[in-house]
Order: sequence, then C-alpha cells, then structure tokens
Amino acid sequence: MPKRRITLTVNGKEHSAVTEDRYSLADFLRHGLGLTGTHLGCEHGVCGACTVLVDGQAVRGCLMLAVQAEGCQVTTIEGLVGEDGTLSPLQGAFMEHHGLQCGFCTPGILTTLTAYLRDHPNADEPELREALSGNICRCTGYDTIVRAALAAAETMRGGTAS
Ligand code: FES
Ligand code: FES
Repeated sequence: MPKRRITLTVNGKEHSAVTEDRYSLADFLRHGLGLTGTHLGCEHGVCGACTVLVDGQAVRGCLMLAVQAEGCQVTTIEGLVGEDGTLSPLQGAFMEHHGLQCGFCTPGILTTLTAYLRDHPNADEPELREALSGNICRCTGYDTIVRAALAAAETMRGGTAS
C-alpha cells in the first residue's frame, strides 16, 4: 500500500508520522497516534462520532484522509481538557447534567459543540438541536445533551449555569 510521511499538529503537539494513503484521519488518530477518544461508528459520514476539529472547524474524521491534514491543527476529545487536566466548561456541564450514557457519541458531540458554541455563544435550544442534528446518540434522547450545552454556554458567557 502506498504510504507517505505527514506532519501535523494534534492537541498542540507536532507529529511527523508515516501513514498509508488510504487511511482516514480518524484511523490515523486512533491507530497512528493512539488517540482512541475519537470514535468510529458508521464510517461514512452519518453518525458524527468521529468528529474532530481541523483548523478550528468540526470535521468528520472518517471522511477526511489523513494525508489531507498535512500542516493542519487538529484537536481531538483528548485536547479539550486543560494542561492540568481541568475539564472544559462543556465537559463539566456534560458531567453535571448527565449528557452521556454509554459515551460512544460523546467525543463527536463535544467537539461539534466546542466549535459551535465558540461561534454561537448565545445559541438557544432550537439552534443547539439543529447544530447537533448530524450527531446521532442512541442513549440519551438528546434532552440532557441540550441541557448541558445550554448550561455550558451560560458558563462561557460568564453567567452561572444552573
Ligand atoms: S464514523 Fe464518521 S460520521 Fe460516523
Ligand atoms: S451516550 Fe450512548 S450513543 Fe450517546
């Protein structure tokens, strides 16, 4: 299989690694870098479990080839915590409001919401539901996810989440 070396920054750390040309970004993150927090469900762009941030934008890691990430800044679920291990406001809100059950969808939902709330800090419930329409969760029924997202948005705006 054809291979090539790629250099990219993942969670603030530069990596240079050889990957097969056919590898998706999600496969590369999981098998090349050991970042197994990025999950693969459908592997054809439907479920959203594989979502990561590429240059700040939410991207389906199963639909992008690793070689296309050459020179990019990638953030995975492992990169959302602070350097001291502090959870992001979104992660904290998910814990507090029970925004996950099995957790399979959670990395993709958190990365999706991280980008969305950065760009839409005043998002309301219908807007958040629309933003999450490409992320499938089989467990929660979405209500606790939306509640957590609303609480995180309030925290990030400087208010006190309830
Ligand atoms: S695994 Fe990528 S969208 Fe489902
Ligand atoms: S928490 Fe199980 S799929 Fe979402």
